[in-house]
Amino acid sequence: MKVLIETERLILRKLEYIDGNDLFEMDSDPEVHLYIENNPVKSIDEIRKVIVMLKKQYAENGIARWAVVEKLTNECIGWSGLKYFDQPLNNHNNFYELGYRFKKKHWGKGFATESSIGILDYGFKNLNIDKIYAITDPKNLNSKKVLTKLGFDFIETFDYEGDPTDWFELKKTTWECKKPNR
Ligand SMILES: CC(C)(COP(=O)(O)OP(=O)(O)OC[C@H]1O[C@@H](n2cnc3c(N)ncnc32)[C@H](O)[C@@H]1OP(=O)(O)O)[C@@H](O)C(=O)NCCC(=O)NCCS
Repeated sequence: MKVLIETERLILRKLEYIDGNDLFEMDSDPEVHLYIENNPVKSIDEIRKVIVMLKKQYAENGIARWAVVEKLTNECIGWSGLKYFDQPLNNHNNFYELGYRFKKKHWGKGFATESSIGILDYGFKNLNIDKIYAITDPKNLNSKKVLTKLGFDFIETFDYEGDPTDWFELKKTTWECKKPNR
């Protein structure tokens, strides 16, 4: 499988059907889903549908969430990546949003930050994106901490389908002068 990004400890590549069991382990965990709709998956079939959707995004947009594989073990530990939005959200249209999700047993090891640094570099340098956005539940402190470490600015809390949601942005110019090491 083609390696899209390589960092010190991680490889990023497209998600494939063989990742189904790893994604199921991650997405059936209620703690992982606490701040993302709180609706963990119940069957591997739901995961297959997600992979079908991601493959469509890869084909249409050239990019989407990518598998994060730990080099040491070759395990798919979660995903990280840029989603292209062609529908309006919080008065923005046609933009890229950074997202990440990892198996609970791999939290607290710096993998979200490390994979995101690789992705943001790719987005700003290879895709020449001017601004990358991120959204999170205001109570999701782990995610907000990652965004702050990456240099994102909190802009505002907006109403996302009835739920208060925090909106962050990172400018290419900020990344160029303040990119974190890890
Ligand atoms: C959000 C989420 C990805 C954050 O993951 P995380 O593991 O806490 O984030 P990081 O990769 O930044 O790692 C955090 C810690 O690892 C520690 N760490 C350990 N070893 C490290 C290393 N070698 N290098 C860097 N950091 C390391 C860091 O000290 C850091 O803690 P600190 O920020 O207090 O210093 C994770 O909680 C998750 O998957 N949540 C469920 C899904 C979700 O909510 N996604 C976001 C939706 S908006």
